[in-house]
This record gives sequence, C-alpha cells and structure tokens, in this order.
Amino acid sequence: MKKPAIAILFLLLGILLMPLYGWLYLNYGHPPVAVDDPSFPMEAQIVHKPLGNRIRSEMPASSPVPINEATLAAGASVYMKECSFCHGVPGTPSKVGAQMYPDAPQLWVKHHRGAVVGVSDDPVGATYWRVKNGIRLTGMPSYVKVLTDTEMWEVSNLLSVADKPMSDDVTKILTQPSN
Ligand code: HEC
Repeated sequence: MKKPAIAILFLLLGILLMPLYGWLYLNYGHPPVAVDDPSFPMEAQIVHKPLGNRIRSEMPASSPVPINEATLAAGASVYMKECSFCHGVPGTPSKVGAQMYPDAPQLWVKHHRGAVVGVSDDPVGATYWRVKNGIRLTGMPSYVKVLTDTEMWEVSNLLSVADKPMSDDVTKILTQPSN
C-alpha cells in the first residue's frame, strides 16, 4: 500500500474509534463531577455564549409591572420565599449558594470587580427571562409553573434596583430572619 493510503486508513480508524475514546474518558478519565473539581477547558465560554445569545433574542424590552412601594414589597416577599436560600439577602450572603457549581451569584453584593450590585446592571427583561426559563444544568430553577407572571416581574424589578436604597418596609422583608 502507498504511504498516503496508509495515512488515510489510520485517519479513518482514528475517527471510527472516537466513540471508544469518549467511553474510556467517561468511565476511567475522572471527568469533573464534584463541585470543587476543575472546569472543562473553555467550559464557561461554551456554556455562556449560547445562553447570552438566547436571552438577548427573547427577552422583553421592558417590565409591564411598574416599580413602586407596593410592587417592590411584593417582589421582596417572593424573593424571600423562592430565591434568598441560594442568592442571599442584603448583608447576609447564602452559604449554600457558594457551594454550588456553578455558584449562585449573590444578588445583593458588589461584583468582585467594579461597584455593580448583583444584576442591577442587567436589563430587567434579561433577569425576567432567567427567572421564567431557569438555566439548564445549573441549580437555577425555572419559575414559569411556580410563580405568576406578575410575581416574576415583581422579583425581577426588585433585583433591577438592588443598587438603590430600599424603603424601611422592603428592607424589613428582605432582612427578616428565616425560620
Ligand atoms: C437552588 C438554588 C437557586 C434558587 C432557589 C434560585 N436560583 Fe437563581 N441562580 C442559581 C444559580 C446556581 C445560578 C447561576 C447560573 C449560571 O451560572 O448560569 C443562578 C442565576 C441567577 C441569575 C443570573 C445571575 C447573574 O449574575 O447573571 C438571576 C438573575 C437569578 N438566578 C435570579 C433568581 C431569582 C429571582 C430566584 C427566585 C425567584 C432564583 N434565582 C432562585 C441558583 C438558584
């Protein structure tokens, strides 16, 4: 057999054996499964690119629920019931949220770099999209069958102004000790 033919034969053999490599890796390669394991190469980029694109194309442009004292208080109650366990409350980050992979971002603290609090720099429609649809293969649940549409907007509105001072009533709801 001529040299190029042998090279092609090995190439084809290599391609045919790919499922076997995959099987060997999954069974014996110790792929990351524990929270503290290192990430796959480029894992963050692979996961975040399509998510960002999808949210940009589907998010509503603005909130149909106005931001006022009553709707912020309603959003705070929803937040305490459904979100604080993972995302923390003002002054007290969630212990569990940090022990997830990916971790649950703390929505009342400033980012590591910069002064932005939680997702207050994101369009409110992007937060609403995340609350409604959840984020697959992370701990972030979908609330479309758990909360009403108004409740999803109320909690999204609240997070969009997390960098602003809250009224005493709203602060009280957000800092009441959970039982
Ligand atoms: C069981 C834990 C858990 C609960 C409960 C939960 N989340 Fe999440 N959430 C997560 C995790 C984990 C992520 C990170 C997902 C990722 O990295 O893509 C996340 C991501 C988010 C983000 C995107 C944050 C960012 O920095 O881009 C928002 C906004 C959010 N959650 C809002 C909420 C709201 C509002 C609720 C309640 C209605 C809620 N979450 C309930 C675990 C949770």
